[in-house]
Amino acid sequence: MTEQKPVSETAAAKVTLPDAQTVTSVKHWADNLFSFRVTRPQSLRFRSGEFVMIGLLGDNGKPLLRAYSIASPAWDEELEFYSIKVPDGPLTSKLQHIQPGEQIILRPKPVGTLVHDALLPGKRVWFLATGTGIAPFASLMREPETYEKYDEVIMMHTCRTVAELEYGRQLVESLKDDPLIGELVGDKLKYYPTTTREEFHHKGRITDNLTSGKVFADLGLAPMDPATDRAMVCGSLAFNKDVMAVLEGFGLREGANSEPREFVVEKAFVGDGV
Ligand code: FAD
Ligand code: A2P
Repeated sequence: MTEQKPVSETAAAKVTLPDAQTVTSVKHWADNLFSFRVTRPQSLRFRSGEFVMIGLLGDNGKPLLRAYSIASPAWDEELEFYSIKVPDGPLTSKLQHIQPGEQIILRPKPVGTLVHDALLPGKRVWFLATGTGIAPFASLMREPETYEKYDEVIMMHTCRTVAELEYGRQLVESLKDDPLIGELVGDKLKYYPTTTREEFHHKGRITDNLTSGKVFADLGLAPMDPATDRAMVCGSLAFNKDVMAVLEGFGLREGANSEPREFVVEKAFVGDGV
């Protein structure tokens, strides 16, 4: 096993400001998942749901950057990220060892399709995520505009195991008592977590729970209707493709920043999954 050098020695010292940000806290949620918060560049403006490029200096001294959804809302004075730990992943095999006080590189150019502007006005919004795909919704669930624009917000999150749901569960739980947006959230937010490979009170893939109608029955909601329902999707390529077909089956159409419609999609990562 190679000795893990502190990131501050390997990366931060060589990063040219203003792209270095300091880690303020780190939390490990499961063997393969962690979250961390960093200082926010004063000049960084973003829309809740967008992503940026972050990373560390690689062994060759060049920045090793990857796309990451900003998991914190636009009003937060820090930035939060929720990350996978890919075994032997060029970035995350190092990033998973970061400690408070160390630095990461953050390119302050936020972009993305999972933003309110890309959807036509509606009554209900569905956030559909697998795995770390919950990250942009961790931002949007804490965004006041979400509750100003919609009467109901339904967060469906599916992972293989219960432990992988924990970040989302604690986040949703904390919203009730959040001094800033707790009152706005009220009972508008409906949380529907499921597992597919471990026992849990709700099971099954998002696609199956939508097509069978189980999620509508369990939450006491009417089925999706393009006149009232909007959706944002973030998961693996296979998930995104399958859930898009389900949404289209309900009559919803894919939109974009330049052409708002009933749903928008973003990849949670590139590749086949681990
Ligand atoms: P890589 O070489 O980048 O990936 C190796 C392989 O690991 C990939 O081919 C894939 O099979 C698998 N993999 C990569 N990321 C994931 C993941 N998140 N979940 C499951 N399997 C994965 N990752 C996050 O952890 N959190 C985010 O908020 C996030 N946001 C992203 C937003 C966008 C728009 C995109 C395109 C990707 C995002 N990613 C996110 C993935 C991220 O960019 C990196 O791929 C990830 O950090 C792993 O980096 P790596 O260098 O260790 O491995
Ligand atoms: P399953 O366990 O049935 O494959 P992964 O870790 O492979 O990215 O998967 C994360 C979650 O997304 C798992 O619960 C997985 O269910 C589910 N999932 C993967 N692919 C699809 C898909 N094409 N449609 C719906 N759900 C999917």
